[in-house]
Amino acid sequence: MAKKFYITTPIFYVNDLLHIGHAYCTIACDVVARFKRWLGDEVLFLTGTDEHGQKIAQAASLKGKTPLEWADYIVSEDKKLWEKLNISHDDFIRTTEERHKRTVQEIFTKLYQKGDIYKGEYEGWYCTSCETFYLESQLEGGRCPECGKVAEKLKEESYFFKLSKYQKRLLNYFAENPEFMQPSFRKAEMVNFVKGGLRDLSVSRTAVKWGIPVPFDEKHTVYVWLDALINYLTACGYLEDKVKFEKFWPADVHLVGKEIFKFHTIIWPAMLMALEIPLPKKVFGHGWWTVEGEKMSKSRGNVVDPVKVSEEFGVDAFRYFLMREVPFGQDGDFSKKALIRRYNADLANNLGNLLSRSLTMVEKYVEGRVPEPGGEEKEDKELIQKVKGLFERVIKYYDKLELNSVLGAIWEVIDYANRYIERTAPWKLEKTDRKRLETVLYNLLETLRVITFYILPFMPQTAEKIWERLGMEEKIYNQKIEEAQWGRLKSGTKIKAGKPLFPRIKDDL
Ligand code: MSP
Repeated sequence: MAKKFYITTPIFYVNDLLHIGHAYCTIACDVVARFKRWLGDEVLFLTGTDEHGQKIAQAASLKGKTPLEWADYIVSEDKKLWEKLNISHDDFIRTTEERHKRTVQEIFTKLYQKGDIYKGEYEGWYCTSCETFYLESQLEGGRCPECGKVAEKLKEESYFFKLSKYQKRLLNYFAENPEFMQPSFRKAEMVNFVKGGLRDLSVSRTAVKWGIPVPFDEKHTVYVWLDALINYLTACGYLEDKVKFEKFWPADVHLVGKEIFKFHTIIWPAMLMALEIPLPKKVFGHGWWTVEGEKMSKSRGNVVDPVKVSEEFGVDAFRYFLMREVPFGQDGDFSKKALIRRYNADLANNLGNLLSRSLTMVEKYVEGRVPEPGGEEKEDKELIQKVKGLFERVIKYYDKLELNSVLGAIWEVIDYANRYIERTAPWKLEKTDRKRLETVLYNLLETLRVITFYILPFMPQTAEKIWERLGMEEKIYNQKIEEAQWGRLKSGTKIKAGKPLFPRIKDDL
């Protein structure tokens, strides 16, 4: 029976256009989703937008728009971006949709009836930019510890979620499910935070008008984070589609940035415990990108537009760079210089050369047709072993979401295949041993064919192009996983040599 796999990105705020940080998370989810589909899993890959709250209302009013008009515009831009970057999400949820409002209201009422949400009074320091309340002791000179904006003192009637009640259960859950929080180095901070004691969480606002009304007390709107987290339930049919919900819930992975890890590993699990439904299997907190060593921000004017970068270097080179440059989970630094270095070394030289050298030799020596392989020698066996061993290696890395290691393993094979060309020297064999030449060329083409499956989740367009050059008629997307087994390349297939896929970029920045 096919397995299911439910993976989510955070839902993005609609106050502004998206940048490479947002694209990073979404591309990573896309890679994993594509890989799982290839394995035959039934995948639900969700992304979307977080549209309520003061920050959005303010951004809209600055543009002279209503919040919804502004959100509509940003959503259409976000969708264009995902299309451009070849993101293969199955659903795009907006928190302003009816299906979501209904789910949030239903859940709020349920928790209220259960006594896990109660009415009280809130007094605290609020940062509108981060939509978060802080204690006075958390502020830094009256400013938000996250974004540095001035915090406002607020006192208001509020509903509270009994987060404190779940302290013990959360700690037990963390202890019993060591895989829940990843990478594991992020875990200690969360455990200590919970151990330090949890205060009940204010989950409604009277001052914020742009939000989902509390159904039984309409002068309140639901706190945006509560509203936002529930998107993961809405989209898999919590309220409206029992069959879908039972199939996909719990989520397999929530992929989020490190600064919102806490919301996903503490508040969200406590809410789910209160709702008496299972917890997501894994929350992964990825790192942050800086740009040329600096934090990305509008005020610094260094926000990197993913559309521009992918137009300049190609969508796949952009995807490759983000996934390869840093161990997934760590912070990284973006610069054109680093991108060009990677592009030239890994794509133009390593992969590009393997492809163009192999195809050129096939054109030149064996009339552009896949030859018949003969007996295997030591170097052939080694190459074939490397290719065959790839599956087991990448599966382990995917399990831990070590996406840069997946690429590392693929590129080891590519590198090895380039050395195989040097070792076997087909240009000499052409004169001395035709049969051996044919075996070597077959092995090169077959290596390329098999690794194309592994490249596909990261660089879908490139995979498609390599596939065509290898003379394959069926689309690579339609291939079953068995097709990645060694030896399925048919002799006689006509290949198509062409221009380099990744022409070298002048490194003079
Ligand atoms: N709306 C909330 C998420 C709610 S999920 C129930 C939110 N939105 S966001 O638009 O501000 O950010 C979304 C994601 O983008 C976060 O995971 C965040 O880590 C990521 N990034 C924003 N800037 C980033 C970098 N500079 N680098 C990497 N990722 C970054 O938070």
